[in-house]
Amino acid sequence: MSRTLLVTSALPYANGSIHLGHMVEHIQTDIWVRHQRMRGHTVYLICADDTHGTPVMLAAEAQGITPEQMIEKARIEHMQDFAGFHIAHDLYYSTHTPETREYASEIYNRLKAAGLIAIRPIEQLFDPVRNMFLPDRFIKGECPRCHAKDQYGDSCEVCGASYAPTDMIDPVSVVSGARPVKKTSEHHFFTLGRCEAFLRQWTRSGTIPVEAANKLDEWFEAGLADWDISRDKPYFGFEIPGAPDKFFYVWLDAPIGYIGTFKKLATERGLDFDAFWGNNSTAELYHFIGKDILYFHSLFWPAMLESAGFRTPTQLFVHGFLTVNGQKMSKSRGSFITASNYLKHLDPEYLRYYYAAKLNAGMDDIDLSLDDFVARVNSDLVGKYVNIASRTAGFISKRFEGRLSNELPEAAVSLTERFYAEAESIAALFDAREFGKALREIMILADAANQFVDNIKPWDLSKDNARNNELQQVCTACLEIFRLLTLFLKPVLPILSEKVEAFLDIPALTWNHAHAGASILGHHIKPYQHLITRVDPKKIEALVDSSKETLTQEPTESVVRPETPALPPVEETIGIDDFSRIDLRVARIIAAEAVEEADKLLRLTLDIGVGQRIVFAGIKSAYTPEQLVGRLTVMVANLSPRKMRFGESQGMVLAAGDGTGLYLLSPDSGAVPGLRIK
Ligand code: 2FM
Ligand code: ZN
Repeated sequence: MSRTLLVTSALPYANGSIHLGHMVEHIQTDIWVRHQRMRGHTVYLICADDTHGTPVMLAAEAQGITPEQMIEKARIEHMQDFAGFHIAHDLYYSTHTPETREYASEIYNRLKAAGLIAIRPIEQLFDPVRNMFLPDRFIKGECPRCHAKDQYGDSCEVCGASYAPTDMIDPVSVVSGARPVKKTSEHHFFTLGRCEAFLRQWTRSGTIPVEAANKLDEWFEAGLADWDISRDKPYFGFEIPGAPDKFFYVWLDAPIGYIGTFKKLATERGLDFDAFWGNNSTAELYHFIGKDILYFHSLFWPAMLESAGFRTPTQLFVHGFLTVNGQKMSKSRGSFITASNYLKHLDPEYLRYYYAAKLNAGMDDIDLSLDDFVARVNSDLVGKYVNIASRTAGFISKRFEGRLSNELPEAAVSLTERFYAEAESIAALFDAREFGKALREIMILADAANQFVDNIKPWDLSKDNARNNELQQVCTACLEIFRLLTLFLKPVLPILSEKVEAFLDIPALTWNHAHAGASILGHHIKPYQHLITRVDPKKIEALVDSSKETLTQEPTESVVRPETPALPPVEETIGIDDFSRIDLRVARIIAAEAVEEADKLLRLTLDIGVGQRIVFAGIKSAYTPEQLVGRLTVMVANLSPRKMRFGESQGMVLAAGDGTGLYLLSPDSGAVPGLRIK
């Protein structure tokens, strides 16, 4: 039965480059979509850039352009990246569109009419210099639990604590460097808890993987809190109807971007919108997502749709994260690889094949091991698959003017039968997103075909004119098998398959051609052209090397988190307020002695005008105690005391150094202990 499917991948943020982490999901989606199209179903694949939020607003400002200009530039780049990997979108659009605005407003109004929007004041940190409320990731400060410095406003990377930014010690705005103040404003909330009964039933109705449903149970047990869907101005987004200066939070309108994007496609193609999104829709709806955004897609999204009278997704397909060589992608290791940089060095179909070999229907992380990547692609695609054609096609061109025989040799009948017979189970594996298993089955068949060629040795047959007929039949069998392997691999390798279709001179392959009736017996083929090049490990090296330089941002995961801010470059600036908090004073070294147990430390006694301080300084390699006594220097007088093995260090003296020398700073003569440095 022919079906109609609407399929989405998660919408990438407009303020970042597409990288190989994104490509796991987009390649997975595309393979599945191509497979469904080859089954004869009608499939629409849509995606868009996720454009709203504070990070986009600030990144555009930093670049001196409008957010609209920035997101359009990003959209063009993203579209080029996806096209480079042969992702077959019907439409790649944006969330900043009239369509998404319309549906965001409509859904909000319907939720409000259903009594599911609450409005109440909340207190947040506010940047008094920039006049803006600060998202958690735009605040840095000291962790209230372990006192680690320089932690983000939502959680501590040192001790793992989660907290409210208002609980941080000495918070600072990343935007201006100012000390934030607490400020209250009214926020709009979606009362998710009121949808609990529906969500408990929906999430247990085959819509999400069981392992994900188990995770949701934990969230149900913890209680479904109201969801804050508004942000105050300035914010790049859609204003909330009837609430001036309040904007929809980016995560409210992002999934509505699926609807808005489809609306645009429906208008362009004359499709019936309600058949896809109405609550009596006949189409199926599938979202491919990463496990980090499960919460949004399995709770907020279905609850919003159901409560606003739209259909809910048929299924969520959830995948894990990408690691490279067993570790998180990293700039310093050169494993944070952007899509565009990959495309400068390597064929996209290599990566499509490798990811497919690693992907299954589960939520486990997948690893791109670069050595394994080279070995797998070379062994499977070059050594097994293409080898079958490259070892036999030449005989058909040279000896038989491109004509295949009308019959198969006896020795090949059972082998070809096996290929026809296994087509359905391979298709079923693609259907179930068990791509790794499908490719294993396909390579077992390719091994059997190569074994057949090895046994029958067409090159020996070709030496004996009396065996011409046999040679033609054997090569015909091999090319029929090659046709079937191409069909099986087509969702993964669309471009290579097109080249094979051209070489075999056959119409576009679909699953309907996986039987003997569609065989190429008696057919004329074109001369064989080189189909694929081995992966050169030097190209991987070049890719890794160049990835060390092309980076602007280190992701915490393969999928960049919501509202990841565009952070300042490594050499962060600080505001004058920060600087003036440091109490720098002229100090006289009145005593100095080596710390026996420590290679580098001297124990200095400093006179700072208002008293004395003991400081352990790592300057033993450059100065003897005698050289220091009586000398003036500069110290940080308000550094929190640090307990060391040898006693408490009550500050820090300033020295310059680059690893080769150490130079203690001193004021000009005339300065006296206790003078403040301004
Ligand atoms: O996590 C992300 O990258 C988000 N931009 C995904 C949004 S998906 C959908 F909801 F729009
Ligand atoms: Zn901590």
